[in-house]
Amino acid sequence: MNAHRIAAIPGDGIGKEVLPAAQRVLDEAASRHGFALSWCELPWGCAWYAEHGTMMPPDGIDRLGETDAIFLGAVGWPGVPDHVSLWGLLIPIRRAFNQYVNLRPARLLPGLASPLRECGRFDVAIVRENTEGEYSEVGGRFATPAGDVAVQESIFTRRGCERVLRYAFDLARARGGRLVSATKSNGLVHTMPFWDEVTAEVANGHPDVEWRRMHVDALAARFITHPEDLDVVVGSNLFGDILSDVAAAVSGSLGVAPSANLDPTGENPSMFEPVHGSAPDIAGRGVANPIAQIWCGAMMLEHLGHPAAAADVLAAIERVTAEPALHTRDLGGTASTEEATSAVIAALPAR
Ligand code: NAD
Ligand code: IPM
Ligand code: MN
Repeated sequence: MNAHRIAAIPGDGIGKEVLPAAQRVLDEAASRHGFALSWCELPWGCAWYAEHGTMMPPDGIDRLGETDAIFLGAVGWPGVPDHVSLWGLLIPIRRAFNQYVNLRPARLLPGLASPLRECGRFDVAIVRENTEGEYSEVGGRFATPAGDVAVQESIFTRRGCERVLRYAFDLARARGGRLVSATKSNGLVHTMPFWDEVTAEVANGHPDVEWRRMHVDALAARFITHPEDLDVVVGSNLFGDILSDVAAAVSGSLGVAPSANLDPTGENPSMFEPVHGSAPDIAGRGVANPIAQIWCGAMMLEHLGHPAAAADVLAAIERVTAEPALHTRDLGGTASTEEATSAVIAALPAR
């Protein structure tokens, strides 16, 4: 039997609840399709930090490099500053493995209500630049005669912009043929005009894609007022981050929003993790929505070359969301993580 080696990093908070839940679903789907997932359980995160003073062991990246994919829950917990926990685990993985595309689909699943009163069709793919941009360690804090100053530089390389924009335009070509690029060239005088210039160059090679740029503030509003107009949205690291939470909210909850951190060259393992975080406000109570993590699992199966198994998992998710009695609290229901997970397993199409 063909077994894929998968690193499982539950991380912190609800990551420890939704990741094992999704593993159950994936194991079941895999066995029905004649393959297996060999999980390498890695207890890295804020508890590991408390014991060892680092978020992962020194050879952590090397160990992940030996896997076929990384399945991650969430990172971050009160007591460890967020910039320490995230720059100690999640962000180094994205960078070490050249996962320059963060693909974040969002759509209205059957049975889910958008908080928007008028929300007809909503089916977007956010392509977020994932290894540079506003997320940088360049800068610092300085004491000056005029008072303390903090400086945070953004780094946009031509190669970094070009490759993610090319991915987004290719995706738009394969989907509805429409793309919006998030900019802010009215306020950011160096990076965003550069991003816009590279966007126009890449667009020239995709004459079949209808595209426009929008300032990110107006685009955020557009998600609320005309969600049906959007198809592929591409943005820098920070803009894509913020817009993906907006998209998740439009689709009903952060609890149903997946993401895939992809190295499209295939040279390194890609990483699959929900858009949401560790949700300290609900962690430990067994009420977290496992759908985002399970959907991430479907994206991982697809990536590993099992589109039929991935489609089964998505079909099972849709059968569960269609049933209000199976909704978790974030969706207005009363189901627990365990009930929603078991329902997804029960809803897997028979093989
Ligand atoms: P969050 O996404 O953890 O939570 C925001 C809100 O959404 C909370 O009210 C939470 O209860 C709710 N929510 C999130 N996921 C849910 C789910 N599956 N089911 C039901 N409700 C859900 O964002 P935050 O509060 O800003 O961050 C908490 C911690 O997580 C911080 O340490 C942050 O840095 C970290 N974080 C990590 C990741 C990641 O690892 N990829 C992503 C985002 C935030
Ligand atoms: C996400 C998260 C992370 C990000 C944080 C926790 C660093 O918000 O994956 O969306 O901004 O990339
Ligand atoms: Mn985010």
